[in-house]
Amino acid sequence: MKRSKVIEVLTDGSVGSKVVVKGWVRAFRSNRFIQLNDGSTIKNIQAVVDFENFDEALLKRITTGSAIAVTGELVESQGAGQAVEIQVEGIEILGDANPDEVQRTVMQPKRHSLEFLREQAHLRFRTNTFGAVFRIRHAVAYAIHKFFNDRGFYYLHTPIVTGSDAEGAGEMFRVTTLDPINPPLNEDGSVNYKEDFFGKPVNLTVSGQLEAELGALALGQVYTFGPTFRAENSNTSRHLAEFWMIEPEVAFNDLKDNMDLTESFLKYIVDYVLENCKDDLAFLNEREANEQKTKPQNERNEMSLIERLEFVSKNDFKRLTYTEAIDLLLQSKPYKKGQFKFDVKWGIDLQSEHERYLVEKEFNCPVILTDYPAEIKAFYMRQNDDGKTVAAMDVLFPGIGEIVGGSQREERFDVLKEKCKAFDIHEEEIWWYLETRKFGTVPHAGFGLGFERMIMFVTGMTNIRDVIPFPRTPQNAEF
Ligand code: 4AD
Ligand code: MG
Repeated sequence: MKRSKVIEVLTDGSVGSKVVVKGWVRAFRSNRFIQLNDGSTIKNIQAVVDFENFDEALLKRITTGSAIAVTGELVESQGAGQAVEIQVEGIEILGDANPDEVQRTVMQPKRHSLEFLREQAHLRFRTNTFGAVFRIRHAVAYAIHKFFNDRGFYYLHTPIVTGSDAEGAGEMFRVTTLDPINPPLNEDGSVNYKEDFFGKPVNLTVSGQLEAELGALALGQVYTFGPTFRAENSNTSRHLAEFWMIEPEVAFNDLKDNMDLTESFLKYIVDYVLENCKDDLAFLNEREANEQKTKPQNERNEMSLIERLEFVSKNDFKRLTYTEAIDLLLQSKPYKKGQFKFDVKWGIDLQSEHERYLVEKEFNCPVILTDYPAEIKAFYMRQNDDGKTVAAMDVLFPGIGEIVGGSQREERFDVLKEKCKAFDIHEEEIWWYLETRKFGTVPHAGFGLGFERMIMFVTGMTNIRDVIPFPRTPQNAEF
């Protein structure tokens, strides 16, 4: 008989039919009730055993963490919590799990700290929380491809190994096949990269944007969705050394179009999760609510996870310029009371305490900040007429901070060449990027969404290490 998945049995299994279900045992109570999960849904199917009918030695092997196949008839459930259950007729042990060993793992059914779960990232998929997070992560990835495909964008695969470091978005990881102990040297003692695999120094990419622009200036609308790498030593709950980024790039778009696209994109993802991940979301909502109860009243979230998602879906993002934001910060209570750690004045790079004030206190909704000082943003952002600011935009989310960074791009060849000079970027390094501005250059714009930060927002997880299967952070590349 063909195996049915738990989700199929629970959603449209008909009472009286024979089924085979395979999965991992979550619990086996009273030698009678097996909770079986196969990852197709957060819900378990209950399999009911009449122990008189089975060999004791076999029943002993049905333990938390073991894998089994059960065959039986689907019957209406007597107990609360599920509509149907399986009246077991046959049991096959597929994989044993030694109960003494399970004791020391995250599979042991009790509350574990997220830190402990992280140490067992190879097993944490077996828990409800991480099952929910990674099913949602998948759904969001799918929604992103669907959003762009439905709107005529092309998915462009930009390189992961790159020779350009022009973006300046972060420190890079060197990729080399040279012998680290005895590399070939130049006469002056420096490493001779001409003898390296690519004949020059190369790194892991920090962003696919520059290449995406090349694609957009012919294909019209493209997006990338791939891993990016930053070797900063930032050990925060929002930074990974390896993370995934989505970077759309659109010819003929200006900054306003770019903001509109970002806002509709982020709302689409939120709506998709609300509509398609109901069970997992309900679980995470409940999980967060329970956790909130352990906190002092004034540290609790004002809204539940689901309420926050609905709020973002239904309300316009607040749009304002960097200059307006600085004015608001200068007027703010924490500034006047000297409560900010970092000083506020026009020209500073906003610190997360400033961003959080704007998003969480001043507006209490997602915020799009635009038109930042040229000095604190990348060379490719389009110079505004005031000569001081560029057509940049950052999207800030409550509880997350910066989730999107983007801009209209500098399409004017002469201005861009000047910018390269000012940022000390050599033309030999970036000649291919500059060339697009020689042949039919047009206004264009794009942005980058940090995939994991978006997953944090839609799952309510507060540490970025808990929304990627195997996090890479300073001093940590286990699994
Ligand atoms: O703001 P960033 O550095 O922008 C770029 O890389 C541009 N090339 C994007 C573009 O215009 N096409 O990064 C974009 C987003 C950030 O807003 C943040 O959400 C995420 O990527 N991000 C990180 N996420 C996790 N760990 C890190 N170390 C991150 N650095 C950036
Ligand atoms: Mg940024």
